[in-house]
Amino acid sequence: MAIRKIINESDETLRKISKPVVDFDDRLFELIEDMKDTLAKAEGAGLAAVQVGVLKRLFVMHAGKEERECINPSIIKQDGINKIKVEACLSVPGKCGYVERPEKVWVEYQDRTGKKIQKKFTGFEAKCFCHELDHLDGILYIDRATKMFKDRDEYAKEQGKQKKDNSKSDASKSKNTKSEK
Ligand code: CO
Repeated sequence: MAIRKIINESDETLRKISKPVVDFDDRLFELIEDMKDTLAKAEGAGLAAVQVGVLKRLFVMHAGKEERECINPSIIKQDGINKIKVEACLSVPGKCGYVERPEKVWVEYQDRTGKKIQKKFTGFEAKCFCHELDHLDGILYIDRATKMFKDRDEYAKEQGKQKKDNSKSDASKSKNTKSEK
């Protein structure tokens, strides 16, 4: 087990299309274990093989209770609009942005033994799955972002503004309710 180096957005490798995994062997297991360690150390939610410079169609994610290894993943069906707007990426350090993703995805992938698994993910796990799947096709979330924040401070400011707006409308709502009474 080892921590691998995560490449960043300036590296052209991130723009390449990853190839399907065909050998479910010790080398693959080692890669998966390294990716899990690397993800945990970076405190991220997901990590695709291409982010450690390996052009294979697999990613690991830890976006819910369980840690998952998704090999040769695909989305079969999707539905709704995810309530979580903000997104970030270990290969785009510091920044974050708004990306629209489905609320629910029905997916298929293989585990490390090659066994096919079908799952339905919702919320943050659905969002993470879509983000990681994009990596395998050379797409970064910054390509899809409707709004980008240069750092966490800028995002926090935006959040604060929204909260203020929300409480304003809440206040006017409660006022209305009162006057109705
Ligand atoms: Co990413």
